[in-house]
Amino acid sequence: MCGIVGFASRTTPAVGPLVSGLSRLEYRGYDSAGVALESADGIKVYKQAGKVSALDALLARALPEAERAKYTLGIAHTRWATHGLPTTANAHPHVADGGRLALVHNGIIENHAALRAGLEKRGVKFLSQTDTEVLAHLVAAFDKGDFLSAVCDALRRVDGTYGIAAISSRHPGEMVVARKGSPLVIGVGEKDVVVASDVSAIVAYTRQVIYLKDGDVARITPEGIDIHSLDNAPVSREVQEVDWDIGAIEKGGYEHFMLKEIFEQPDALANTIRGRLDPAGGTAILSGLGLSPRELAAVRRLVIVGCGTSLHAGMVGKYLFESLADVPTSPEQAAEFRYSNPIVGPDDWVVALSQSGETADTLAAVRESIRKGALVSALCNVVGSTIAREAGRGVYLHAGPEVSVASTKAFTAQVAALLMMALKLGRTRRLSREAGDRLAAEIARLPELVSAVLARNDEIAGVAERYAGADDMFFIGRGILYPAALEGALKVKEVAYVHAEGYQAAELKHGPIALLSDKTPVVALLADIPGQEKTLGNVQECRARMAPVIGVVTEGDGAAASAVTDALVVPRAGVELSPIVSVVALQLFAYHVARLRGCEIDQPRNLAKSVTVE
Ligand code: M6R
Repeated sequence: MCGIVGFASRTTPAVGPLVSGLSRLEYRGYDSAGVALESADGIKVYKQAGKVSALDALLARALPEAERAKYTLGIAHTRWATHGLPTTANAHPHVADGGRLALVHNGIIENHAALRAGLEKRGVKFLSQTDTEVLAHLVAAFDKGDFLSAVCDALRRVDGTYGIAAISSRHPGEMVVARKGSPLVIGVGEKDVVVASDVSAIVAYTRQVIYLKDGDVARITPEGIDIHSLDNAPVSREVQEVDWDIGAIEKGGYEHFMLKEIFEQPDALANTIRGRLDPAGGTAILSGLGLSPRELAAVRRLVIVGCGTSLHAGMVGKYLFESLADVPTSPEQAAEFRYSNPIVGPDDWVVALSQSGETADTLAAVRESIRKGALVSALCNVVGSTIAREAGRGVYLHAGPEVSVASTKAFTAQVAALLMMALKLGRTRRLSREAGDRLAAEIARLPELVSAVLARNDEIAGVAERYAGADDMFFIGRGILYPAALEGALKVKEVAYVHAEGYQAAELKHGPIALLSDKTPVVALLADIPGQEKTLGNVQECRARMAPVIGVVTEGDGAAASAVTDALVVPRAGVELSPIVSVVALQLFAYHVARLRGCEIDQPRNLAKSVTVE
């Protein structure tokens, strides 16, 4: 939530890199944006409610090209509002010290009210309702001549989470950044230094990066980077190379990132799977888990924590681990888990799922599980993310950057990774070599199976056209396809703004069926796997109430196809793979419904991609 960019150079004007960096980070929040620029004349701040394009337009009016060259140091921010309305006054950067100091912040200062009251007593006048402005004044209050020390002194008084960047005309040419609970990455260019909430705002300049750790505070100048702990002791952090380039975060000819990312799934899955199947043992090799066969065999219970789409992938995981490895598995919404004083210990394996690796509740669930002595692993997509690092062991998805706020390729990659974990765990227990071989061969076919769904994009668009006007939809599935129904409903809600509910197919008649009519399409997950005949019965119940039924059906399954009003056809796949092929069809369906309704697909209202607040 919220994106931060900082830029320090001797010669390159900062405005361009700051604004293009913000555009890359807009998925993190997009209700207002701003920049602060430093020159020999002091600091200038430009901010604007609305998207980064509105800020860009403001800068075009207010800051002529000829003047831009003098600003080679600056900070910038795109906001997802937590404290205060999304107005220009509440937009970052916030200033203090009579406009000499500017600061941008991602996170939440929990004790902001107490700090604010203290500062007000000392005569500080606040211009916004934000917690961030408090931090700006606090840093200014501690500034006795060394900027980094002032930031450390202020942050030691703060409860909560932050990624910050600050500049002050009392310390020309210097930017101080810090993180705790909100990500911050420093890009080390040949002549320039770029700081950002994630590497997508950096790779256009350099692929050499330093991932700051919680508690790090860094002084950045065009000449160098000086990293300290909050107690102001020097620390050293290694420079790492990002293993993808700018092309991965461009639309590449697609109208939307969501569509591009849906179509990237065959490649993403190939990358998730590559080198991780062991044909010789009919199992999977997931060395990042760092668990010996003895440790795996000792696992008594699995708990999978996540939020949103990641939680849905975890719910698929329950079926995989229970059926393949005989291990009781509870998928848990991460926020509920962390506050439930969870009963986990050394025999339990807690697996955290997170595309971004930064989701606040999932991170807190990881910390709570580590505290309680459980085995903890993470399945994350973003390399170097906080959850991946804190869990210490895990599997990277290697699905490539996911830019669209609606998660698509991360879901299928998560399910593929969970499937390989279940295969590995199963083979340490009762899963036979033959069953392991069969499953490994199925997993290897995933890219091909998903390509077959994508080949039906036009057909799916045609079905979407018939239902794009609906105000309400139901999605039903049973067993391993129930989480797929939840995920289909979530996709339609978030990108098409259609009220959609996912239900266990059998649950519909326990209440929700009262809402069915010819105006409420029901999407039924009808892949040809055990239990399908029961869901077909539920389809009849819906049709008897005049509800049109869109079935996700297996190719060649004439009985299922003729039971529904419209069919989204997916290739025949084993039970374990059926959620993946079904969800890909539902992603396309949601995408086309949203497109036909004229929605802002990649940046739906009120959402942000990386939810770093509770
Ligand atoms: O980065 P994470 O996987 O931890 O994010 C979890 C959810 O915030 C995320 O899946 C969200 O539900 C997406 N908007 C779903 O499309």
